[in-house]
Amino acid sequence: MSRLLWRKSILALAGIILASGFGAAEAQRNLKAPKKRYTGPGTTPNLRNIIIGRCYHYMSLYPATGVKDCSGVWQELTDAVFRKEPCNITEEDYKKLAQVTAQTIPCDKSLLWSRTNDLVHRYTKATESFMTLEDTFLGFLFNGLTWCGKTASPGMNYNACPSWKECTNNSLSSFWKIASATFSQASCGTVHVMLNGSADGAITRKESMLRTVEIPSLNPNKVSEVKLWVIDDIQGQDRNSCNSESLLELQHYIEEHNLAYSCIDNYKPLTTLQCVENPNHPVCNLCSIR
Ligand SMILES: *[C@@H]1O[C@H](CO)[C@@H](O)[C@H](O)[C@H]1NC(C)=O
Ligand SMILES: *[C@@H]1O[C@H](CO)[C@@H](O)[C@H](O)[C@H]1NC(C)=O
Ligand SMILES: *[C@@H]1O[C@H](CO)[C@@H](O)[C@H](O)[C@H]1NC(C)=O
Repeated sequence: MSRLLWRKSILALAGIILASGFGAAEAQRNLKAPKKRYTGPGTTPNLRNIIIGRCYHYMSLYPATGVKDCSGVWQELTDAVFRKEPCNITEEDYKKLAQVTAQTIPCDKSLLWSRTNDLVHRYTKATESFMTLEDTFLGFLFNGLTWCGKTASPGMNYNACPSWKECTNNSLSSFWKIASATFSQASCGTVHVMLNGSADGAITRKESMLRTVEIPSLNPNKVSEVKLWVIDDIQGQDRNSCNSESLLELQHYIEEHNLAYSCIDNYKPLTTLQCVENPNHPVCNLCSIR
């Protein structure tokens, strides 16, 4: 190698090092530049892989779902949020995503819930007779995940997303609204609802998805009855039961939507399931289970 060539390549190399050094500094400044505007956690890392993996997993768990286009699901999600302000996402934006994930819900299988997150999912795992939103294709794909886009470029914002209540039309709340509405609209026969009789306050919050989205989305021509299960914690207080005021108010609300209503306190199969974790409690003595 001639001396000149050598010098040239050293210079070029130095140039590259300098440029990349500046590049990194620049990138860092850009990362810091947009102030963290949202208070919620950012998009779940590896979101695309998780969703596509769950998509194939769901098809293998429930072959009756048929063949779904898993890359298409991701595509519809990106179409819904990319290059959009995360506080300006509506149910309308997710319409196509809801369409490509549509499924038939067998009659009498829908199980809605409020404030019983843990028990309700233990129950649907223990019996194949029921299906919650999180057991539907759409709910299963997105359960527990966070996502939002950015206005400046396509791609997800991994730094921060709006939290649930930060703004009315945000990327997460609008998604769960349309997912819940789609599930309720597709429900038929008897629809069960698992409620928490030990939680404080009214049996359902006024702003709960159950009241604002799910009950209004049930179709009175397809749903024969809304059957409530009010479950107290084995060790907990009995704050609400079928004859308490807040249940009567809920009954009225359900009937206003032209739906038939019934209510059961501490449905026995659920008590049995609670006893798995509290075997020594007197209620769990096999001879005393009501
Ligand atoms: C909100 O979204 C709508 C429809 O996507 C759009 O027309 C409007 O400009 C957006 N507003 C803001 C403030 O981003
Ligand atoms: C009912 O609510 C109480 C208080 O919020 C909670 O500790 C309990 O786990 C809930 N019960 C069920 C079955 O989810
Ligand atoms: C949220 O979106 C709806 C359209 O779905 C619109 O009518 C409403 O004004 C929006 N609310 C806010 C606070 O932007």
